[in-house]
Amino acid sequence: MMQKVNLGMIGGGTVGSGVFHAWQHNGTLMAARLGVQLGFRKIAVKAFDEPRPYRIPRALMTTHWQEVVHDPEIQIVIELVGGTGIARTMVLAALAQGKTVVTANKALLSAHGPELFAAAAKHGVNLHYEASVCGGIPIIKSLREGFVANQFPAIYGIVNGTCNYILSRMAAEGADFADVLAEAQKLGYAETPPDLDVDGFDAQHKTGILASLAHGFWVRHENIHTEGIRSVSRMDMQFAQQLGYTIKLLGIVKRCQMRGANSAVQVSVYPTLIPNAHVLASVNGVFNACFVRGDVVGDTLFYGRGAGKDATASAVLSDVADAALDLKHGTEVRVPPFVDHARKGRVLPMDEIVSRYYVRLSVVDKPGVLAKISAILAAAKIGISSVVQPEGHEGESVPLILMLHDAPNGAVRKALAKIGQLTAVKAAPVMFRVESFD
Ligand code: HSE
Repeated sequence: MMQKVNLGMIGGGTVGSGVFHAWQHNGTLMAARLGVQLGFRKIAVKAFDEPRPYRIPRALMTTHWQEVVHDPEIQIVIELVGGTGIARTMVLAALAQGKTVVTANKALLSAHGPELFAAAAKHGVNLHYEASVCGGIPIIKSLREGFVANQFPAIYGIVNGTCNYILSRMAAEGADFADVLAEAQKLGYAETPPDLDVDGFDAQHKTGILASLAHGFWVRHENIHTEGIRSVSRMDMQFAQQLGYTIKLLGIVKRCQMRGANSAVQVSVYPTLIPNAHVLASVNGVFNACFVRGDVVGDTLFYGRGAGKDATASAVLSDVADAALDLKHGTEVRVPPFVDHARKGRVLPMDEIVSRYYVRLSVVDKPGVLAKISAILAAAKIGISSVVQPEGHEGESVPLILMLHDAPNGAVRKALAKIGQLTAVKAAPVMFRVESFD
């Protein structure tokens, strides 16, 4: 007779009911593929009648999460509550009960990863989190297993669907950020308040997880330079397009220096000008993508839905399958949740990171202004690769676009502060970094 593994789930809303529905739909197929039968035993919900897109049988539901965690028949606990408060208590309690945990909670991992991994190790169980990054895209499994023979010189991710939806519409329609955001909220794509997404924190959590796995030291979220997309204006989107670029919120994990086994890595999230010819420039709408450069495999690209009940369910059930196979074979921690392999790796401070730049200034249209600006840049050893003063702008100030050559962020930050103080410069300089994917 086929072995049976019992599942408990905490969270029976949109994603939870999506997981249950996908299991109802494909559970038999999964059992055939795995040689293990998966069965839901209990699902803890906020309320029996909370709105959910798919039905969950009343007999499976409880409003007490402790009943899931303390049920001795349950071997795998799926946490889909979200946040960093009660979810942490639930995951720690489940691990302490010797249960393998599957979570989609990127904020929880970002805030408490090492504590949770230590708890899993202490209790001899595993913690799986495929759904925490890029939703349905199997990026965690790919980094840890598919690319196990690789080092990762660079990873670039479009990891937040809400931001990508907003930026794609701004690019396609010449729309303003605020108008697209309001509509995205009306359609239910963007949360209210939208801060976690549009201020870059959700992308920060996901980029940190990717960076940690790729480089083998846990990247703390406070070390990740993060800028959201509120500063992207319609005007900058249009100028970027005229110059052959599109603007995307990019999670960047790039190895900058290597000394022996120790690496210094850029780990950052910010709106970035991407050349239109690069494949990531074509990733539009709510889609996510992850461009992974391995030193052995070369360049690879992953594309798919980064959120939503069904895509997330696909990733959650893939973790459940791994956990069930480990239970079947008695290898509970075949692939541990996280392995330190570069203990002295470090995140490079933003000021030391070298990139190219797009700068937009609002300047008085008078002789000598450009000379003053270029003198400040020259003194800082920052080269200008092109200058555009678009025709058709009149008034007290006009836009002046500068594309700058590779330079350290610190030098550019200081030079722009000086430029912003010139009397001919009428507003704080706008700066976005440009990625060449070299
Ligand atoms: N809110 C996220 C996004 C999905 O817009 O991509 C969950 O991480």
